[in-house]
Amino acid sequence: MSINIIKTLKWVSLGLGIVIVLMPPTIYLASALKLGKTYDVALTPLRVAPSPALAPEGERLANVFGCLGCHHANGNVLFEGPGVGHLVAPNLTRKIRDYSDEEFVRLVRYGVKRDGTGIIAMPSAGLNALSDDDLAAILSWLRTQPQLKDAQPAVTSWGPFGRIAMLLGAVPFSAEKVVPQIASLHRPMATPAEQGAYLVQAICSDCHNLDTEHDNGWGIVTPPVRMMVQAYPLPDFRRLMRTGVALGDRDVNLMSTIARSDLSHMRDDEIDAIHAYLNESESQDAE
Ligand code: HEC
Ligand code: HEC
Repeated sequence: MSINIIKTLKWVSLGLGIVIVLMPPTIYLASALKLGKTYDVALTPLRVAPSPALAPEGERLANVFGCLGCHHANGNVLFEGPGVGHLVAPNLTRKIRDYSDEEFVRLVRYGVKRDGTGIIAMPSAGLNALSDDDLAAILSWLRTQPQLKDAQPAVTSWGPFGRIAMLLGAVPFSAEKVVPQIASLHRPMATPAEQGAYLVQAICSDCHNLDTEHDNGWGIVTPPVRMMVQAYPLPDFRRLMRTGVALGDRDVNLMSTIARSDLSHMRDDEIDAIHAYLNESESQDAE
């Protein structure tokens, strides 16, 4: 019997050995294929010409829509972990130099880079709605910026755990989350409610559903945005957007952070438009 066990153990350890030797290259190759996957999204022209006159508005919008919150002035590590690697939102003052107007539109609206590969973690599902006016303004501002030295590390890199997470579908490729909207040409829209609908789609929908709770992963669950905003009288809603302080003087974690860094750059009429839209519009769940 002992001979049999030893034989079996030999085969088992040989098998394990082969698996252990072949695992890393397999994981590496499979994740490299995922990273190299290209998305076939046609280039469409930007129907508003960028110009330096739009730059100040573009800088404001780059804050409102979160570009600067993620990318910072010259690049920013969004996530890092031992064995996972680090995910870098790169230095836009360098990156933008390679991008034509059309390529920029495709990148922001569809999460597809110049070379056709997909971008990770950009909220393209919401940004897909950005109007040509707003994209032109952001692009105008980026083009007027001098090229800054990259913050370090300057590029994304993937460790073995990060690659395994990618194969398990836990790394969000933006292009796979886009549901194309009919992006409008101009802003402001005709009515405050239309303006509000636009901003909710472009900003809030990244984290919130309108009428249901939304599980964002990483343990972050957000409440239905319409019901929550309807609980806010306008002055309190303005205070939440400007300072991150919620009803009852609460700090509401990520919501407070995002309000202070991004949403506080909205104009009063934009904040009021969001409030008006979410108060006027009917809940989809209602009879
Ligand atoms: C939630 C964070 C986040 C937000 C918001 C965000 N980005 Fe990004 N962006 C990233 C990350 C992460 C990458 C790099 C992803 C990668 O390495 O695949 C990136 C990459 C880019 C690139 C470089 C693409 C390339 O060729 O490598 C550009 C340009 C860019 N973003 C522009 C923008 C603009 C403009 C906005 C606002 C409209 C924006 N981003 C909003 C996270 C963000
Ligand atoms: C980056 C993700 C993110 C974005 C973008 C975001 N929210 Fe939130 N929001 C959250 C989270 C997370 C919570 C739950 C916070 C908590 O209770 O800890 C929340 C909670 C709220 C609440 C409830 C606050 C309370 O009284 O408890 C309101 C109202 C709200 N969000 C409105 C908005 C509006 C309006 C927008 C768009 C202009 C928006 N949010 C965009 C993440 C986000």
